[in-house]
Amino acid sequence: MDLNELKQTVQQCRRCGLCETRRNVVFGDGSPDADIMFIGEAPGETEDNTGIPFVGRAGQLFDKYLAAVGLRREDVYIANTIKCRPPKNRDPNPEEQAACIDYLREQTRLIDPKMIVCLGRIAAYRIISPDFKITRDHGIFYERKGKILTAVYHPSLLLRDPRKKDEMLADMLKIKAKADELAGRA
Ligand code: URA
Repeated sequence: MDLNELKQTVQQCRRCGLCETRRNVVFGDGSPDADIMFIGEAPGETEDNTGIPFVGRAGQLFDKYLAAVGLRREDVYIANTIKCRPPKNRDPNPEEQAACIDYLREQTRLIDPKMIVCLGRIAAYRIISPDFKITRDHGIFYERKGKILTAVYHPSLLLRDPRKKDEMLADMLKIKAKADELAGRA
């Protein structure tokens, strides 16, 4: 299955109750050849309306961090742990996450990035470790199965707590430098 076929499959998905309330499946955005794959939590309202991840307020802030470190959306790939919006933006529940995780696994296998960056604690919990503490462990690089894993603050947290913005910029700069190193550009 290629990425387009996977997208078409996910667009028909009825594995959990979120299919009843979604407007659009939010599959992913960016380059299928990206070295860096960012993984957020779940689509919000603007994403549900457009079918594109990280295009609401948090997404616009995230785009600024990409630009600040010399990256464009087209250089990276962006997805979420679950592909449909939970009503009223509540946290995805374990059943919804379990129903969707195979799609993310397959998407990650097809993109085959060198580095996976979790956006926020929910993605870090799922992808890095249930023991992950975002305030303690953000910006640390882990290696697993030949890939670098790391996590940064979720951009919506930065909207609520702008004091964390300096740490976010520092983490994003480290991520860009690491990606350059992995690509042999450093
Ligand atoms: N927050 C997320 O985690 N993902 C999105 O796509 C938008 C907001």
